[in-house]
Amino acid sequence: MNTASEYLVETRDLARIYGDGEEIRALDGVNLKIAHGELVTVMGPSGSGKSTLLNMIGALDKPTSGQVLINGEDLAQIRNKDEFRAKTVGFMFQLHNLIPTLTAKENVEVPMMGHLGVFERRKRSGELLALVGLPDRMNHLPNQLSGGQRQRVAVARSLANKPQLVLADEPTGSLDTAAGQALMRLLQDLNQSQGTTFIVVTHDQSVARQTNRVLVMEDGRIVREDLIGSPMEEDLKMWRYSGLGRRIIRDDEETEQKLGLSESQLQAVRILLGKAEGAEHKESGL
Ligand SMILES: Nc1ncnc2c1ncn2[C@@H]1O[C@H](COP(=O)(O)OP(=O)(O)OP(=O)(O)O)[C@@H](O)[C@H]1O
Ligand SMILES: [Mg+2]
Repeated sequence: MNTASEYLVETRDLARIYGDGEEIRALDGVNLKIAHGELVTVMGPSGSGKSTLLNMIGALDKPTSGQVLINGEDLAQIRNKDEFRAKTVGFMFQLHNLIPTLTAKENVEVPMMGHLGVFERRKRSGELLALVGLPDRMNHLPNQLSGGQRQRVAVARSLANKPQLVLADEPTGSLDTAAGQALMRLLQDLNQSQGTTFIVVTHDQSVARQTNRVLVMEDGRIVREDLIGSPMEEDLKMWRYSGLGRRIIRDDEETEQKLGLSESQLQAVRILLGKAEGAEHKESGL
């Protein structure tokens, strides 16, 4: 797998225009870069192009113009799109489309067919269902599971082939608040522990707040990008505006002597506090 590229996903002037007569510009020049291991949300009004964007990135549809690069490779140049999708991308859509006649475990096995032998498939399927907290529901059919449990089966299935990238279109849309939050925590855990990159479309501000970066779309364009401060940034910001923080930034000698830090340590603190200032400008409006 080629991971040499700095970005896992990049789009360049991406456009998707529907219709012959009256044009619908579902995507109208989208430029974005998503690094390996990011957890990004996409928000925006209905019809703004969020699902279209995921379809392009997942090679489910072709752009009218512009490019999608995955690991630096132009999707248009990839011949075998099925193989690309199976190996690199996990799809998690709101209508999770579990096969009703297959058990949870069998549903998770489906994407592995053709890639793994039956024993490996069963093993991995069991591991994935344990990972999403359903070790005791392996042999249940979808209609014997709650909505949240079905959604978790879909999460397990989307991870079957260890995708680098998971595209999730309103994954919490049909869940109640508690189940939605549990699902987001699961995605965050997977993001941290496995380094999986997630792009999550959502209408829910509380979902977006749990991710590092929010892209806001309108009329087929990304019109805004919010960076959500990490807890450390938040702490630094508070420190920056404390009396002590202000004295350090002012280079107040008495304070510095009291702190008993070396000049290089103080310098490091000033840089961190300066970064906190930088972070403030990018602070989310959410
Ligand atoms: N197959 C299609 N043919 C024609 N127009 C389409 C098609 N698919 C989407 N569109 C149009 O493209 C625009 C973007 O649609 P898209 O599904 O990407 O929106 P969205 O942001 O996902 O909205 P929602 O939040 O309602 O899911 C809309 O105006 C939609 O009507
Ligand atoms: Mg949509």
